Amino acid sequence: MTTAPILRSVADLRAMVRGWKAKGETVGVVPTMGALHDGHLSLARAARRDCARVITTIFVNPKQFNNPEDLKKYPRTEEADAALLATVPVDVIFAPPPEEVYPEGFVTTVSVGGVSEPLEGRMRPGHFDGVATVVTKLFGMSMADRGYFGQKDWQQLQVVQRLVRDLNLPVEIVGCETIREADGLAMSSRNRQLTPEGRLKAPVLYAAITRAADDIRAGHADRMAIREAAEAIRAAGFDRVEYIELRDAGTLMPSSDVTRPRRMLAAAWLDGVRLIDNIPV
Ligand code: PAF
Repeated sequence: MTTAPILRSVADLRAMVRGWKAKGETVGVVPTMGALHDGHLSLARAARRDCARVITTIFVNPKQFNNPEDLKKYPRTEEADAALLATVPVDVIFAPPPEEVYPEGFVTTVSVGGVSEPLEGRMRPGHFDGVATVVTKLFGMSMADRGYFGQKDWQQLQVVQRLVRDLNLPVEIVGCETIREADGLAMSSRNRQLTPEGRLKAPVLYAAITRAADDIRAGHADRMAIREAAEAIRAAGFDRVEYIELRDAGTLMPSSDVTRPRRMLAAAWLDGVRLIDNIPV
């Protein structure tokens, strides 16, 4: 299987995309930070189905890490990533060095209000500014018609949708279903940082919020169901439950309005690794 060409400069990427656009071809972009797994590949496959041309970007974005240790530890596996993408296949991989994305003198930040403030925004100050800034740049660099994002990062998906609406960016956002391991654990590049024992405990996060969502749908009080989920996660050996919240799926504000779509979102620490998950309620 031949791997897609890896481009490092915006000029090379633009030249390639201009050629495609001149022929009227639609372009999909799948932004990633590498360390790819089946979740990423499902986004690339969705783009492959919808678009004549598919770009996958691999860039570990320093601006979205509020913890320098986390940035250092983030897995970098470009060769393996390229081999996985060859199975889709994608047309090109854009993997720029940091100075290509943030050249000297770079001072602009894209900051989305509202939806980026609670939950992850509160726990990881600056994180969504980093995401919004790099995603805006990746859309500008790739000139893509469609951008593919996973529902695993539900709040990020809402932030990107808001950003595109607010700034009239000419790109359609496609949100794709979370891909799970056979035991329910949501696929994430961070899962590979878990110890073998931690990996066995990790599916409890999904199981606990699923049970809470079922209980709420069956008429149990929201608070009680959430408290029981947090207890189950702690009892399984997680170090800490950061939050389990039932929110309006679109605004991410607290919601007891059962006539609107709601989402249960959770973040918890296991083995020093921060896991997040979310499901519809
Ligand atoms: O979801 C991610 O991997 C990142 O936040 C993204 C969208 C690639 C931006 O760096």
